[in-house]
Amino acid sequence: MLVSATQMLKKAREGKYAVGQFNINNLEWTKAILQTAEELKSPVILGVSEGAGKYMCGFETVAAMVAAMDKSLGITVPVALHLDHGSYEGCYKCIKAGFTSIMFDGSHFPIDENVAKTTELVNVAHGLGLSIEAEVGAIGGEEDGVIGKGECADPAECKMIADLGVDFLAAGIGNIHGVYPDNWEGLSFETLEAINKKVGEMPLVLHGGTGIPDDMITKAISLGVAKINVNTECQLVFAEATRGYVEEGKDKQGKGFDPRKLLAPGVDAIKAKVKEKMELFGSVGKA
Ligand code: 13P
Repeated sequence: MLVSATQMLKKAREGKYAVGQFNINNLEWTKAILQTAEELKSPVILGVSEGAGKYMCGFETVAAMVAAMDKSLGITVPVALHLDHGSYEGCYKCIKAGFTSIMFDGSHFPIDENVAKTTELVNVAHGLGLSIEAEVGAIGGEEDGVIGKGECADPAECKMIADLGVDFLAAGIGNIHGVYPDNWEGLSFETLEAINKKVGEMPLVLHGGTGIPDDMITKAISLGVAKINVNTECQLVFAEATRGYVEEGKDKQGKGFDPRKLLAPGVDAIKAKVKEKMELFGSVGKA
């Protein structure tokens, strides 16, 4: 059931659990995540970066595929189709294409410009029943060419952006996209606590979910995080499972080269990873 992410994240914040945003790359990815969410009766957010949107022939193709798949698979759990790290132009494209949620990443603009653009997009999104996420303090690492330094957000700026009426807020707390380097200092709970105090009941978003230790995830949820983004980890398990299949020579046995067979181990690996994360985040049975 395609919905905005507003209610599912309000409920998560109140219930002290988090909803996973899993990024999608193609049909297999989308199907694996939707089926797992339905099986576990968990709400879910499908994240689409601008790069992945382009790869899948544009946001209209993505929105049409997700809407049709949601219907044909008989998905009953709440599903939000969300633009990840959207540019100003990208947000308008997704609104037009039929996404149910957008993220405007204005973190690289001076704060005044971030405020002006976020205000405009909040009004447009809410007028059409979509939810909107904003970002303060760049998330570190690189995702689809978007590079951030991993700075900690200023709690006063978070309050300013939260007061514009966004539905959930991504705030940098030392998190990084991709695999964490060995010398990573961990999440800054001091920053998270200060932000949480400032923004009241606002659901907070933790980007860079790949590789964050379980105890840090649990602590972050206890301090107001209600949405956790995971992308790289699904890519890694997919690649590893596919490599195993090929290295064992299974693609050369019978009709093992059939894409439905070749991609099956990767799909199963994504399902297992999504299940593991939903259990950790506490969203199982919360649909
Ligand atoms: P990872 O790729 O580190 O899991 O981060 C995902 C993310 O934050 C998407 O916005």
